[in-house]
Amino acid sequence: MFPINQNSEKVNLAFTKQSEIYDEYEKSNPLLSWMRQQVYDAVLPHLKKGSKILELNSGTGTDAIFFAKLGFDVLCTDLSDGMIKKISDKIKNENLQNLIKVFQCSYTELDKLYNEKFDFIFSNFGGLNCVSDLRLVTTHFPKLFNDGGKVCLVIMPPVCPWEILQLLKGNFKFAFRRFDKSGANANVEGVSFKTYYFSANEIKLALGSKFRIIHKQALGLFTPIPQMENFINKHERLIKLFQKFDKVFSKHFPFNLVGDHLILIAEYKSTIKQK
Ligand SMILES: C[S@@+](CC[C@H](N)C(=O)[O-])C[C@H]1O[C@@H](n2cnc3c(N)ncnc32)[C@H](O)[C@@H]1O
Repeated sequence: MFPINQNSEKVNLAFTKQSEIYDEYEKSNPLLSWMRQQVYDAVLPHLKKGSKILELNSGTGTDAIFFAKLGFDVLCTDLSDGMIKKISDKIKNENLQNLIKVFQCSYTELDKLYNEKFDFIFSNFGGLNCVSDLRLVTTHFPKLFNDGGKVCLVIMPPVCPWEILQLLKGNFKFAFRRFDKSGANANVEGVSFKTYYFSANEIKLALGSKFRIIHKQALGLFTPIPQMENFINKHERLIKLFQKFDKVFSKHFPFNLVGDHLILIAEYKSTIKQK
């Protein structure tokens, strides 16, 4: 029905390697914790007491642990052997086995979870940019949701102003890499694989008519991308100012369509039809 995801082996290898340094890198980069906080600020008003969360591409489990500590039940899924091992170790160390369960699978194979129902599906920090067609994932959502369930997808869109600014340095290829519909080459820990970028409208179409978008926000619009460590370290006050701009503009059209990532939250109603 949809094109098959051919990236899986390389993605597994790349993120297994990255799992060893993922948390340390995040700790050393202040923009990543700022970005995570923006996501939490968007998500928390949509989580009801007792919500059961399905997390896709959980990585090392930072978000699962955050949600579990607030009392939510989380089922973590990820493809990568290394990430699954990291999450499992962290859950044990934090003694959160009662609240977090782990299941290794690709988000294109969520049919393996059809015997469970969730109130919230969550995918953070561009994990979904590893799939060539979002419908390979979203097609499963209706079968996993309780009615009135919500989904939050944090996905990288094609238009990222800070990457496009690389044009000023003559870096034409990098500036427009996200626009390549056949996929852009990403290199994670020496392993290269394809990544794909989706606009807010493409995400909405992939979700389909049973979903209503209730929140749309840019993440990293004025604020630089976290990979610009040198700039970030040299311009702390400027970064704070950019973060204030993001606070004011990031949820408003047309700013909420572009950025390093987009935060989209949608509600599932088996009866609604979107215009
Ligand atoms: C950039 S990390 C994000 C991790 C985590 N969500 C976070 O916020 O830190 C991307 C994650 O997506 C996972 N991933 C990539 N393709 C996947 C797939 N097809 N199914 C499940 N997980 C996948 C990777 O293994 C990796 O853990």
